[in-house]
Amino acid sequence: MQEKIRDLNAKKEEAKLGGGPKRIESQHKKSKLTARERLHFLLDEGSFEEIGMLVTHRSTNFGLEKQKFLGDGVATGYGTVNGRLVYVFSQDFTVLGGSLAEAHAEKICKIMDLALKNGAPVIGLNDSGGARIQEGVVSLGGYADIFYRNTRASGVVPQISAIMGPCAGGAVYSPALTDFVFMVENTSYMFVTGPNVVKTVTHEEVSAEDLGGASAHSTKSGVTHFSCANEIVAINNIKQLLTYLPQNCEEQSPLDDYDLKVSEVREGLNEIIPENPNQPYDIREVINETVDAESFMEVHKTFAENIVVGFAKLGGKSIGIVANQPAVLAGVLDIQSSRKAGRFVRFCDSFNIPLLVFEDVPGFLPGTDQEWNGIIANGAKLLYAFCEATVPRVTVITRKAYGGAYDVMNSKHIGADMNFAWPSAEIAVMGAKGAAEIIFKNEIKSSENPAEKLKEKETEYAELFANPYNAAARGYVDEIIEPKDTRYKLIKAFRMLSNKVDTLPKKKHGNIPL
Ligand code: HXC
Repeated sequence: MQEKIRDLNAKKEEAKLGGGPKRIESQHKKSKLTARERLHFLLDEGSFEEIGMLVTHRSTNFGLEKQKFLGDGVATGYGTVNGRLVYVFSQDFTVLGGSLAEAHAEKICKIMDLALKNGAPVIGLNDSGGARIQEGVVSLGGYADIFYRNTRASGVVPQISAIMGPCAGGAVYSPALTDFVFMVENTSYMFVTGPNVVKTVTHEEVSAEDLGGASAHSTKSGVTHFSCANEIVAINNIKQLLTYLPQNCEEQSPLDDYDLKVSEVREGLNEIIPENPNQPYDIREVINETVDAESFMEVHKTFAENIVVGFAKLGGKSIGIVANQPAVLAGVLDIQSSRKAGRFVRFCDSFNIPLLVFEDVPGFLPGTDQEWNGIIANGAKLLYAFCEATVPRVTVITRKAYGGAYDVMNSKHIGADMNFAWPSAEIAVMGAKGAAEIIFKNEIKSSENPAEKLKEKETEYAELFANPYNAAARGYVDEIIEPKDTRYKLIKAFRMLSNKVDTLPKKKHGNIPL
C-alpha cells in the first residue's frame, strides 16, 4: 500500500508542475502567475478541491501521444471565497499553451454542470492559445460544449471570467457570454482575429495590445468590465465583486448586519448640485455620499462614461446603481451608455439585486452617427431591461429628466416602485430654450426684439416645468425630498420593498431588441 500511496502522490506532484519548471519560469518572466498560483490567491486557504487532476488527452495526432500532461492544461474544481462556495477553472499556459481540446473542455464542462446543479458561481481564469490545433474539430466541439453551458447557466448562477493571457479566435465567446470580464493590463488580450490577419484583410497595422488589450476593451468595445493593473488586483477585484452577489438566482442579494440609525442625514448632498443648471457635477459624489462608506464598486468605469453603473451596499444591503453622469457629455444617453446600463440592469434583475437610479439626463444624443448606428434599437435595450425588471426599483431625480429619457430612466410608468425628486429637479419634455423656440416660434419671429422675446418665453416655460412639482402633482414622483435625507429615505424604501413580488406574463421569453 505504501508504495501505491507514494505512486499516487508522485502523480499528483507531477500534475501540479504542469508543463515543467522551464515553462513556469517563462510564465513568470512574462509577469504572469501559473494556473495554480492564481487559484491559491483567489480561494480561501486550503479550500481548493481539485477535480480531474489526472485527466489526459486521448489524441495521437502529430505525435501528441508523446506530449501528455496530467490535468491536460486546466486545473478545475471548487473552493470557497470568503467562506462561500465557488466553482473554478484555471487554464495552464505551461501545458501546450493552455490550448483547449476534448479532455480540457470536458473538465470545464464538468465543473459548470456541478455549478448549475448546486447553484454557485463559476469563475474562469483564461490563459490559452485557443483551440488545440493538433486535435482538430474536437477542439471546436469542446468550445461549443462550453458556450452551450455558459448560455444555459446565464441568469442561474453568476459567471465571471478573468483574461490573464491570450484569448483569441472563437475562444473569446465563452467570456463574452459570462456576466463579468476582467482583463489584466499589458499581459492579456482578446480578439476574434489577431494583428496578422487584420493586416492581411484590412491592411491595418496594429499591435495585439492596441487591438485587443485591456485598455481597448475597457474603453472602446466595452467587452471587459474591469481593467486591472496586474493579476493580483484582478483576483482581489473578483473577490470584492462576489461580496455583492447572491450564489444563484433563487437567493436574495447579500445583507450585512446593519442598524438603521435615527439619523442618516448626509448634509453634503445639499451642496452638490450647482446653482447653474448647465454646470456639470460628478454623480459619483452623490453616490458615495449616499451609500455605505466605501462600498461603491464601479463596473465599466472607463467605458461610456456618461453613465455610471456599479454595486454598493445601502444599509448593509447589496444594490445595483445606474446613474447619469452630468460630468461627461452632460449625462446624455447614447448607444454605448444604453447598452452598458441595459446589460447591468439585466444582470441585477437576474440575481435579485435591487436597483437604484440617479437621474440627471438632458435626453438622447442627436446626430447621424447615433441614428445610423442604431440609437433607437440600443436605447430600446435599456428601456426593455427596466420595463422587465421585477426587483425593487427606486429612482432619485437629482436634476434633469427630459423627454424620452425621463421615461426610460426607471420612471414610475415603466414599473419603478418609489420615485423621489430633489427640489432641483426639472421634469419636462425638453429644455426651456428648445421648447420656447418651438411653441412660440411665430410670436418670437414677429416680435420687435426676438432675442428678448425668446428669453421671456424661455423663462415662462422654465417656471412652469423646470421643477418637480407638476410631476409630483400627478403622482409621477412620490415625494420631493431634501438631498440630505436621500440616504435615509432610500434605506427605508428598499426595506419597505424587500418582500416585493412581481411576475411577468407567461411566456417562453421576451424578444429584447438585441
Ligand atoms: C497547440 C499551442 C497552441 C495551440 C500555443 N501552443 N498555442 N499548441 N494549439 N492553439 C503551444 C506552443 O506550441 C508552445 O508549445 C506553447 O504552447 C507556448 O506557445 P508559444 O508560441 O511559445 O508562446 P508565446 O510566444 O507566448 O505565444 C502565445 C500565442 C501563440 C500567441 C498564443 O502560441 C499562438 O499564436 N498560438 C496559436 C494561436 C492560434 O492560432 N490558436 C487557434 C486560434 S483559432 P511548447 O511545446 O513550445 O511549449 C481558435 C478557434 C476556436 O481558437 C474556435 C472556437 C469556436
